[in-house]
Amino acid sequence: MKKIALITGISGQDGSYLVDLLLSKGYEVHGIIRRSSSFNTQRLEHHIQNPEVYNKTLFLHYGDLTDYTTVEKLIYRYNPDEIYNLGAQSHVRVSFDIPVYTGETVGIGSLNVLEAIKNYQTTTGKKIRYYQASSSEMFGKVQEVPQKETTPFYPRSPYGCAKVYAHYLTVNYRESYDIHASCGILFNHESPRRGETFVTRKITRAVGRIYQGLQKKLYLGNLDALRDWGFAGDYVEAMWMMLQQDTPDDYVIATGKMISVREFCQKAFARYNMNYEHYVEIDEKYYRPAEVDQLLGDYTKAKQKLGWEPKTDIDSLINMMTDYDFELSKRDYMIHIHDNALNPTGSSFPPHDKNKKFILES
Ligand code: NAP
Ligand code: GDD
Repeated sequence: MKKIALITGISGQDGSYLVDLLLSKGYEVHGIIRRSSSFNTQRLEHHIQNPEVYNKTLFLHYGDLTDYTTVEKLIYRYNPDEIYNLGAQSHVRVSFDIPVYTGETVGIGSLNVLEAIKNYQTTTGKKIRYYQASSSEMFGKVQEVPQKETTPFYPRSPYGCAKVYAHYLTVNYRESYDIHASCGILFNHESPRRGETFVTRKITRAVGRIYQGLQKKLYLGNLDALRDWGFAGDYVEAMWMMLQQDTPDDYVIATGKMISVREFCQKAFARYNMNYEHYVEIDEKYYRPAEVDQLLGDYTKAKQKLGWEPKTDIDSLINMMTDYDFELSKRDYMIHIHDNALNPTGSSFPPHDKNKKFILES
């Protein structure tokens, strides 16, 4: 029988890759999207435009994690076998600006889903398997290197603190109410679908735009931060694998290798024969009140118990992202030419200014 999955955060990077995976496995997929004044479903466009898929095997529903009724209503209406809780205000820097909202989506949002599952299981006797998007950000000021499932947490941001709360809630609901709930402690994972204010995508977008003359400089914060970066497409497979196990558990998902933001820049610019030192400048506004200096994951448990291993190394990831964004920058260039032709004086709407900082915040 066809399995049914419900995904929160379906319009995000991971949500979109997970949809690709679950549809390829024959699932019926339901996702919660937020009402927005502008489009927020671009990452799902390839499915939305497919009449064989949209509203046949993929269904989108308006809702919000902070609204308990959203989650409860969808669970009772569609009886999902699996719930993947990926929704979050996921930007660490921004969590210092909006800590309360971050706590509400990441922390209380997860509690809403767990409570709805508990109530559903109690009233119907049916089981739902739950995936919690935990984060390496919980390790924060790392207490050992590399970090594994038993490494103590030391979060360094409102986001990290909220993720710790949601993580322990998941463990608690598993132990208290016999819910098949698993936490994936995922280290940073990236892709061409990564949000453009996360550092990797900010860099790979800039490479193409600088090459096309659309941008002069790339302004970044701490270049010395070290991260264990993997490919999002590999990581959603691990999420699915966790929910196929007889017993729920928690797993670190990582590559076991880390490089600095500086080295990422060097490799991404070198892909198009550019020296990052000529283009990257520091802007202190991108520094964080408390930084996570390094993250390096040990995925031994996932390898042994799930049979999961990363398939994409850092060089392939950088090339994938840089090449994708290089093509995007060609499109940006054509739009720029078109805009200038339509509006040579630049009087009626903002002209393209090569000196303007491309990304506004974060
Ligand atoms: P993302 O691209 O920022 O996507 C976040 C998703 O959550 C978006 O679909 C967003 O909707 C949705 N969302 C935000 N607030 C919501 C709310 N109040 N109610 C319902 N939905 C809401 O994040 P991601 O990279 O895919 O990450 C997925 C999850 O894994 C997140 O929980 C993140 O914290 C966690 N995680 C990510 C990484 C990583 O490196 N990517 C590592 C560890 C853990 P809009 O599209 O409308 O904004
Ligand atoms: N975003 C950003 N922008 N980060 C910068 C910049 C900049 O201009 N310059 C330097 N950095 C540094 C940050 O200080 C941080 O040390 C590192 O680059 C990575 O930043 P992000 O890409 O924003 O990711 P993150 O590590 O803070 O958080 C991501 O990974 C977590 C898992 O460890 C997010 O995806 C979180 O949601 C996720 O939980």
